[in-house]
Order: sequence, then C-alpha cells, then structure tokens
Amino acid sequence: MWYTIAAMRAEPDRDFWHPPTIEGRGVVLRRPRADDLPAVERWYRDPELARLTRYQVRPMATAEVDRFFRTRLLSADALAYAIEERPGGRFVGFTTFSALDADNGSVLFHITIGERHAWGRGLGTETAELMLRHAFERLALHRVGLSVFSFNERAIRSYEKVGFRAEGRLRDAILRDGRYWDEVQMGILRDEWLSRRHDTADQRMTAAESAAR
Ligand SMILES: CC(C)(COP(=O)(O)OP(=O)(O)OC[C@H]1O[C@@H](n2cnc3c(N)ncnc32)[C@H](O)[C@@H]1OP(=O)(O)O)[C@@H](O)C(=O)NCCC(=O)NCCS
Repeated sequence: MWYTIAAMRAEPDRDFWHPPTIEGRGVVLRRPRADDLPAVERWYRDPELARLTRYQVRPMATAEVDRFFRTRLLSADALAYAIEERPGGRFVGFTTFSALDADNGSVLFHITIGERHAWGRGLGTETAELMLRHAFERLALHRVGLSVFSFNERAIRSYEKVGFRAEGRLRDAILRDGRYWDEVQMGILRDEWLSRRHDTADQRMTAAESAAR
C-alpha cells in the first residue's frame, strides 16, 4: 500500500497527504507549530481534561506533555492538526490520527479541545467530520476507530453525530468518580461514510427543490 507515514512525509507529497490547512465553517485545522506548546501544557494542567481523557486522574507531568507534543503533534511523522476557531483564529485544541495501519487501511482518531469556552459549540463535531473526510476521501482508508470512556457523554454524542458506531466495550476498564466505567470502542467504515455523504447531499437537494417550488 502507498500510505506509509514515510511516503506521506516525503515532499512534495506531504502537502497532499497532510495539507497545511483544512478549512471548515467554524474551524480551521492547521499543522501544529512549536509555539503551540504553552497552551497544550496549560490544558493538561486542567484536572477536568485529565478526568475526560486519561486513565490516571493526575494531570500529565510537564515533561510528559512536552514529549507527547514533540512526538504526536509536532513531528513530521504525525498526522496531526491544531484546531483554530473561526473567526479570530484562536488555537483551542488538537486532533490526530495514530496507529496508521497500511496493510489494513485503518487508523485511530483522537481529539482534544483544551479551551473550555470552546466545548459544546459544535467545533469538535465539525473537526471530526473534517478528519473523517480527509481519512476516507483523501487518504482512501477503510476504517477509522477510536476509544472513549463511557462517562464522556459529550464526546460519544459528538462521535455518533458524525457516524461512529459503538462496536465493543472494555467492561469496567476505568475507575473514576468512585465507580467503574466501560471504555467504549467505536468505528466507522468507508462505505458508511460515503453513504452518509450521499444522504446529506440528497437532503440538501430535496430542501433546495422544495424551496424552489
Ligand atoms: C469531546 C469533544 C471533542 C466534543 O466536541 P464539542 O465541540 O465540545 O461537542 P459538540 O458541541 O460538537 O457537541 C456534541 C454533542 O454533545 C452534546 N453535549 C454537549 N455537552 C454535553 C454533555 N455535557 N453531556 C452530553 N451531551 C453533551 C451536544 O448537545 C451535541 O449534541 P447535539 O448537537 O445533538 O445537541 C470536546 O468537548 C472535547 O475535546 N472535550 C475535552 C476532551 C475530550 O473529552 N476528548 C475526547 C476524548 S475520547
């Protein structure tokens, strides 16, 4: 298969596989930069972010955040994007693909909006949609998967809205707030994505036709 990280990294192809920006209505995704680090360090000091995203309740140590930032966000091997809200261009979070499996055409999706003011405003759902479009329509992958803690209802709702389905549960995988919760594994396949796009286009067409009548 062609989509190895090394192949994607090679210029000039990199701009095709990992475009410098992906534009949405409410967000712009752009490649991460070194000066994004202070915001990422600040987000990881937020105990609520740790509660939602980490097995350990304690926030990540600064050295851990820096290592994560360098390897998973900044490295030329990382298929990562900083999320900027529109208008204004404020950096509010990041999204990445990991575990790119070229033999099976699959990848794992991750998203963290670190600025609390940006939660619940549709930016995460739009970002997921842009990343899925990139995965299926540009990278031509077959499957995108993710995992999420079952108490993270906002994340699960957002993933369902873009077409992810629950596929399995790691029962009682995490102890949080005094009880055990499952870790939910979700996925979406290329055909499912394409038929959703088709349905949405049909709906738009029908709405335009009724407006014209
Ligand atoms: C999870 C995350 C990406 C979702 O993005 P978002 O922009 O905040 O979410 P959206 O505004 O797109 O909302 C998604 C849906 O969840 C609903 N929702 C919002 N807050 C909710 C809550 N506290 N509980 C349940 N549902 C909630 C929204 O109403 C919306 O559904 P609707 O359109 O049917 O009404 C973002 O909140 C985030 O990064 N949070 C912190 C880190 C995290 O949890 N990452 C995911 C780890 S797996």
